Amino acid sequence: MKNQTTSTTSKSQNVIDIDYLTLPSKDGDSVLETLEKANLDVHFNCREGYCGVCRTKLLAGTVEYRVEPLAFIDDDEILTCCTIPTSNLKIKMEY
Ligand code: FES
Repeated sequence: MKNQTTSTTSKSQNVIDIDYLTLPSKDGDSVLETLEKANLDVHFNCREGYCGVCRTKLLAGTVEYRVEPLAFIDDDEILTCCTIPTSNLKIKMEY
């Protein structure tokens, strides 16, 4: 697979690494919104932390939740719909 990199990041902007992609994360955007802006095929339903459909492995980095999530997640997972990166992230997408 060919490597793709989006490198329009400013110095203080966090990035999200997913396999072969590096995406800039705009301030205030959820992880899900960043993935959608990159036209990735992402899974979601409620977008509010209830259903767990957007559950994704967090391999590195930190996030904060916009709302208290109600869906069950493991310690190494995040809900992309309601998390905002607080550092550079590395996540594992399920395709
Ligand atoms: S889309 Fe339902 S918890 Fe994220």
